[in-house]
Amino acid sequence: MSVTTTPEATTPPSGTPREPRSTTRSAAAARERSAVLESRIAQNPGEYRVLTGDRPTGALHLGHLLGTVENRVRLQNLGVEVFLIVADYQVITDRDDAGDLPATVREVLLDYLAAGVDPERSTVFTHSAVPALNQLLLPFLSLVTVAELERNPTVKAEAAVAAERGRRGSSGLLFTYPVHQAADILFCHGNLVPVGEDQLPHLETTRMVARRFNQRYSAAQPYFPEPDALIARSLTILGNDGAKMSKSRGNALELRASADETVAYFKRARTDPDRVITYEPDRRPEIANLLQIGAHFTGTAPETLADEMGSAGAGRLKDIVSEAVVEGLRPLRARRRELASAGPRYLAEVLATGNARANAIADRTLDEVRDLMGMRY
Ligand code: TRP
Repeated sequence: MSVTTTPEATTPPSGTPREPRSTTRSAAAARERSAVLESRIAQNPGEYRVLTGDRPTGALHLGHLLGTVENRVRLQNLGVEVFLIVADYQVITDRDDAGDLPATVREVLLDYLAAGVDPERSTVFTHSAVPALNQLLLPFLSLVTVAELERNPTVKAEAAVAAERGRRGSSGLLFTYPVHQAADILFCHGNLVPVGEDQLPHLETTRMVARRFNQRYSAAQPYFPEPDALIARSLTILGNDGAKMSKSRGNALELRASADETVAYFKRARTDPDRVITYEPDRRPEIANLLQIGAHFTGTAPETLADEMGSAGAGRLKDIVSEAVVEGLRPLRARRRELASAGPRYLAEVLATGNARANAIADRTLDEVRDLMGMRY
């Protein structure tokens, strides 16, 4: 089923496969479930609508690409309808200055398109352009307790990071953003959310909101789906300081970096003094990370690459990995340069089309929600 701007697009083409589910799930259970989902998706991509996205805090990096963006493109190419939210309101959950948002949104858009997101098939939109999505936050907030919000481990972790950066206390928006994220997902009846394991608690919030809304306002026939997490096939990439790759840590390799910058980046990567290269993620995380990246771009397994390297030493491994990344990213970077030099008109059109599609769907959902809640006068 193709992306459409008609109101029928509010619900996924055919019903979500329904089955009784437990209310909370461990990461292991979610992984198992993801394997089952993968085979269903392959057989019936039209039954799924993916909603996922990023906060526009900077250009995307290698961790984004290998952790989630490639997976989104894969799902899109399998025939799944993909919605990508550029979550601009989320940027101000934990900082006062959002930076130059128009420039950052443009960089993120360039990264998406260069990585293979096809705007003919996928919908890219921003939070702030879709008022009806944001209005869903109000009824949704009434469905959760403050104690539940306080327990969310990701919110706690992000509040701790914000505090480290010198912020006193969490903003109300940070505190409630898992519920906002429920609105992001449910406005388009998204039923599949590819996420990292750290985002699983958010998905539980979304499932809880959907379930409670259905119980309270739409008991006869559930209105919102309880979306599934899809956590298979993603890598958690470390930065060159050995911590998880992230823009804010300053340890990231941006996708838009040049070949020279890529080589320099890997030269600075932290390793260990053992000359024999082995793939031992727990004992030697930095070496394992390099092996994973190298293996990813050369289409082999990290263990195989380790065997090939033998006792060549970390310096040689870095050379091999940066070469693989430079080669592997060459087409993406060429497309990115082409798009960037084509001028702002095309990017603006892609976003305007995505925002219009998202608005058509969100308006329809909000209307239906008003009906269900008895708020039609
Ligand atoms: N929280 C995600 C991030 O930090 C971005 C995001 C916003 C998102 N809304 C979402 C992801 C809904 C999945 C589903 O990058």
